[in-house]
Amino acid sequence: MKILVTGGAGFIGANFVRSTIASRPDATVTVLDKLTYAGSSESLAGLDRTSLVQGDIADRDTIEPLVAEHDLVVHFAAESHNDNSLNDPSPFVQTNLVGTFQVLESVRRHGVRLHHISTDEVYGDLELDDPEKFHETTAYNPSSPYSSTKAGSDLLVRAWVRSFGIEATISNCSNNYGPYQHVEKFIPRQITNLIDGVRPRLYGAGANVRDWIHVDDHNSAVWTIIEKGRIGETYLIGANGEKSNKEVVEMILEGMGRDKDDYDHVADRPGHDLRYAIDSTRLREELGWTPRYTNFADGLAATIDWYRTNEGWWRPQKAAVEAKYAAQGQ
Ligand code: NAD
Ligand code: TYD
Repeated sequence: MKILVTGGAGFIGANFVRSTIASRPDATVTVLDKLTYAGSSESLAGLDRTSLVQGDIADRDTIEPLVAEHDLVVHFAAESHNDNSLNDPSPFVQTNLVGTFQVLESVRRHGVRLHHISTDEVYGDLELDDPEKFHETTAYNPSSPYSSTKAGSDLLVRAWVRSFGIEATISNCSNNYGPYQHVEKFIPRQITNLIDGVRPRLYGAGANVRDWIHVDDHNSAVWTIIEKGRIGETYLIGANGEKSNKEVVEMILEGMGRDKDDYDHVADRPGHDLRYAIDSTRLREELGWTPRYTNFADGLAATIDWYRTNEGWWRPQKAAVEAKYAAQGQ
């Protein structure tokens, strides 16, 4: 099977390529990645049966011939960080909307199966005491340029299934953690701050809740949907991992041998979504998927170890990321 992975040099995509190559001897992978600040060829180092093409999904002359020679496209490529989308929405519109449009046109012209990777943030946010979590029929209500462009990309996929009969599935996953995540994101930022002797930074009061899932569980769910999912359907991926940001920072501090109160509150994110939570009943009951990392503390400890032993991977990005946050009072 020849698989084209867009955004495969980013966090989740690189983990997807790694687990695919390890578990599927019949698979060859082509990664199409623009190698923005968020992508790194080093995340794919040492992999057999994998090639990397540096290019833009929004460029038809790049994507079209690649799609034509593959059996499956798994579409991870996106601008993915909310804070960046507040500073400059333009690459979010270009990659998440125009880029997805070009992916769709290419799979339509060549009759290639597509799986589109999306986020639970398309649903907006929940109250802390909301009894109902996000599910497949929750109304779209995105808050930020990031989540609204991801929502738009999902709607494009749905329209291309209905109007043109393309063979596509969609998944919307909650917050991922694990190896190879960029140091601009919450968990790697705090771990690498502590390695550098800097106190973790919590936005606002730290009451916001995220539903954490290990990246390997996200990717095993993606394979389950590719193999067993119904064409045109959306599946929500989550592992019942709700934690407030304050709880996560305290766990990181304790996991790294520090006092659990040893962090700073900093300026909150404008429009900050309060809570995300996923109901993944459809994925579990219809397709039989279950997560492997059911204990967040264990997955977090493994992630802390990974950042400790892979400083060479993240160090080149760290100073620039912290300078950007400092300029924002964060
Ligand atoms: P990431 O920012 O780490 O990686 C994105 C990758 O896409 C990078 O390698 C980047 O170079 C590449 N890219 C960006 N623009 C491109 C373009 N125009 N053409 C080709 N490549 C381009 O993101 P991630 O965290 O790995 O997220 C991957 C996908 O999963 C995204 O679609 C995101 O919306 C979704 N998602 C992420 C999370 C999460 O917690 N990180 C949760 C749910 C869904
Ligand atoms: P993030 O990793 O940016 O993911 P998302 O915005 O997609 O949920 O942030 C996760 C949560 O952590 C979010 O509520 C914002 C918060 N946060 C902090 O408190 N401090 C930080 O330094 C960062 C980067 C995020």
